[in-house]
Amino acid sequence: MAAYNVTEHFYDVVVVGAGGAGLRATMGMAAAGLKTACISKVFPTRSHTVAAQGGISASLGNMGEDKWQWHMYDTVKGSDWLGDQDAIEYMCREAVPAVIELEHFGVPFSRTEEGKIYQRAFGGMTKEFGKSPAQRTCAAADRTGHAMLHTLYQQSLKYDTEFFIEYFALDLIMDDEGACRGVMAWNLADGSIHRFRAHTVVLATGGYGRAYFSCTSAHTCTGDGGGMVLRAGLPLQDMEFVQFHPTGIYGAGCLITEGARGEGGYLVNSAGERFMERYAPSAKDLASRDVVSRAMTMEIREGRGVGARKDHIYLHLDHLEPAVLEERLPGISESARIFSGVDVTKQPIPVLPTVHYNMGGIPTNYHGEVVTLKDGNPDSIVPGLMAIGEAACVSVHGANRLGSNSLIDLVVFGRAAAIRAAKVVEKGAKHRPLSNAGDDALARLDKFRNAKGGSSTAVIRDKMQRTMQNNCAVYRTGDVLEEGVKLIDQVHTMMPDIGVTDRGLVWNSDLVETLELDNLIGQAVVTMHGAANRKESRGAHAREDYADRDDENWMKHTLAWLGEKGNVTIDYRPVHTYTLTNEIQYIEPKKRVY
Ligand code: FUM
Repeated sequence: MAAYNVTEHFYDVVVVGAGGAGLRATMGMAAAGLKTACISKVFPTRSHTVAAQGGISASLGNMGEDKWQWHMYDTVKGSDWLGDQDAIEYMCREAVPAVIELEHFGVPFSRTEEGKIYQRAFGGMTKEFGKSPAQRTCAAADRTGHAMLHTLYQQSLKYDTEFFIEYFALDLIMDDEGACRGVMAWNLADGSIHRFRAHTVVLATGGYGRAYFSCTSAHTCTGDGGGMVLRAGLPLQDMEFVQFHPTGIYGAGCLITEGARGEGGYLVNSAGERFMERYAPSAKDLASRDVVSRAMTMEIREGRGVGARKDHIYLHLDHLEPAVLEERLPGISESARIFSGVDVTKQPIPVLPTVHYNMGGIPTNYHGEVVTLKDGNPDSIVPGLMAIGEAACVSVHGANRLGSNSLIDLVVFGRAAAIRAAKVVEKGAKHRPLSNAGDDALARLDKFRNAKGGSSTAVIRDKMQRTMQNNCAVYRTGDVLEEGVKLIDQVHTMMPDIGVTDRGLVWNSDLVETLELDNLIGQAVVTMHGAANRKESRGAHAREDYADRDDENWMKHTLAWLGEKGNVTIDYRPVHTYTLTNEIQYIEPKKRVY
């Protein structure tokens, strides 16, 4: 192995990732007096939170009566009863103060006539436990994530936090007892290697959308935290639940916010029919995302798609007042023009369900602490390790996330992790000496730097993305998934034959993409295996050969481990079927109709 000159750092906490969750955790931890570092592979305001459009959910009640209990009911129903109800209760209750806090931090929300935060309708959000649509999604036009991310970064600069920007996290430092003691990182700009010792590492590394060929996720969404967790011998949870957003721009994949339908937009097939009325008679175009994506897929399959190949659907906004489009949906009006050549005031936007979000991730409790199944205990805490945001599976989204519940998840659980760390981490405590800390991470780096095999990163990545797109999509069957398992395992076996051309450590994008691919492929493998194993339909996991939800056998979270030889081990842990307070009772499962 090459001799690396490693720079040592000692912190109370190290947050990896500077999106909404990472920044909220970072500022909370620093505010609590913990010596805090934040490592990010991109400049913080380039994190993928910046791309969130439609808004952030909270039952503020600015646009009609609302209650956090109604929000909780919708979220449990949206999750198809796979969400943990203690965590969902926590999120929906804390959503209200979290959004007020954002307002006070300076997020430039759109406003009502009375000057209150503007709230729009979003899929699956209702009043009185499903009776009528609720306007619950707080919006800054259609650039809510951008507004939030910039505000959170500005706020976090007020505190005594050290940012390590354009540092790529390589691997966790785990001790012999299974506790996390820090993280290794590579400074992309000057090629230096860094060992960050920390009493707690917080993974806020986002989702792994780039395991798929077509997604709304940024190229940076490679699930680096999930990859590190698998390599640390820990499981990922519920990875088979991958959300397809109904309205990605056809051919480009860019997001057209659900807020477009919240403002009155609707979908039509080639007959000009508003087909959602058949699939979801009550909520129609604002049914939850899994329902709308399935309906669009059925319309296309049955020959009612639009365009020369009849392979997509139209989203109409041309009936809306141009002033509304300008004020509330300026961003997607521009995206539609640039990416599909459409003037939204005159023409429909061609759209297609597109991979958008990972409900699965690193299992945690509602404090953000990573949990695993150990000695029969499904809630066993992994000391020194937290995960938040899309990287984590709390699980508040269960089998299907409601639109606008992702931004609220980021800030509520970013804050929760900070509150917990302030309680459990002893400020300034000494770091235990560890022998060989980070050696495995350096050996892996070395392996890829010296990889001289015959398959390029781009070729292996393309095979992985096409396999995931073809074999683990909106609808699934046993045969297609079994084939997917074989194919994705084959792609995984190509990794030892990878070839990296640039061996340097300064701005080596070939090496970055290889390390990212290594993170992605592990998650692609456990996603496919988890999907093949789950023999029911629930939320985003829609199996044609097992069309119904099966609560008796399958109301449980999948845990998947990846062995060093690529073997997958699957086990399950129970869904939390209890609430935290008596302000709401456990919401019993029932048939999910919209
Ligand atoms: O459609 C959207 O604006 C996306 C929101 C979300 O995924 O929460």
